[in-house]
Amino acid sequence: MESFHHEDTQELYDKYVLKNYAPAPLTLVRGEGVYVWDSDGRRYLDFGAGIAVSALGHGHPAWVAAIKEQLFRLTHVSNLYRNRNQGRLAKNLVSRCGPGRVFFCNSGAEANEALLKLARLHGVHKAGREGVCYKVVTALNGFHGRTFGGMSATGQEKIRQNFAPLLPGFSFGKLNDLADFERLIDPETAAVFLETIQGEGGIHPCTVEFLQGIRDLCDQRGVLLILDEVQCGIGRTGRFFAYEKAGIRPDAIGMAKGLGSGFPLGAIWVDEKYADLFTPGSHGTTFGGTPLGCAAGLATLHVIEKELLMENVGSNAPGWLANLQTVRDEFPDQVLSVRGEGYMVGVQLAMNPLPTVAAMRDRGMLAVPASGDVIRFLPPLIATAEHLRQSTEIFRDALAATA
Ligand SMILES: Cc1ncc(COP(=O)(O)O)c(C=O)c1O
Repeated sequence: MESFHHEDTQELYDKYVLKNYAPAPLTLVRGEGVYVWDSDGRRYLDFGAGIAVSALGHGHPAWVAAIKEQLFRLTHVSNLYRNRNQGRLAKNLVSRCGPGRVFFCNSGAEANEALLKLARLHGVHKAGREGVCYKVVTALNGFHGRTFGGMSATGQEKIRQNFAPLLPGFSFGKLNDLADFERLIDPETAAVFLETIQGEGGIHPCTVEFLQGIRDLCDQRGVLLILDEVQCGIGRTGRFFAYEKAGIRPDAIGMAKGLGSGFPLGAIWVDEKYADLFTPGSHGTTFGGTPLGCAAGLATLHVIEKELLMENVGSNAPGWLANLQTVRDEFPDQVLSVRGEGYMVGVQLAMNPLPTVAAMRDRGMLAVPASGDVIRFLPPLIATAEHLRQSTEIFRDALAATA
């Protein structure tokens, strides 16, 4: 294997890579299972999973084999032709979401763009013409991506800053406050658009009551209920979709991240009632739904089922959360709250989380900061109870060192 130093990579970044990120001071070179290694050979327990992406961990043999096989057979053909993998993956997703249809793309932001176009198409259908019913109500503190549609839907000023004018017609309700959403929905509203669990905003789940209430409200007002499951979906909560806890079905769903387990793959599912709003020419993508990307998606879903990964998450997560709560009890002045579902957990600190994240890194573990005062733990779905136990120990040590 080529050997190189972190400093060389840092120099390349310093000279040639745009500075829209401030990456941690390490260069990752290899991954296997729940671990990644840096250029100095140090091993890290990867509880970031590339921001909730590597559902199967790194280099899962079945996932690698499926991609390799497809790579030699057929990589890309465009959507001007059918490919079998796209049809099979769409069928698999429909079997999980309900009767409807799927569109494939490459990322969460692209999935959300397609969902916002669905909202517009619904509004045109409802009002009988364009520009009348186009508004979208989303949640304060949400996050839906960095495109103009995504930023417009994002209720966080720091994400939107310096990019005005954004798309018109977005308003922001308080999460889990049904009355606030009721107030914001008017006859010009086409859709309510929500993350089932806010991720970048610091791990704030929608409650069951709120999801049920918003479903009823959308039905009463003829407004689409669209859920962004880009971060919380694909088994991360121990359920395939996070919204399943409420026993509801949205009208459309956005997904990405875990769907390809590291291969860039996004998708939207649209209920059959609305699926025909997309007609030939109304939307498209060159790269979405390639034979290769869909092979990665099929392999991911196959392994999640075969290795009972949702059951793994469901059985391990409660004990993990309870252990993290004991750390909170040990450090009441530093840890304000521990919250989340399944393998999507946030620890809110009373201080800047970056020194604690760095101290965890020094102790061999990666985690992801969020929203200024939260550390997110987003382990691969293959993480065992022992990995979770180790992560809690490292978090405790790092806290003790930075408290
Ligand atoms: C809930 C949610 N929606 C959308 C996105 C955007 O996805 P992507 O970065 O793949 O464009 C993210 C990314 O973090 C996300 O968490």
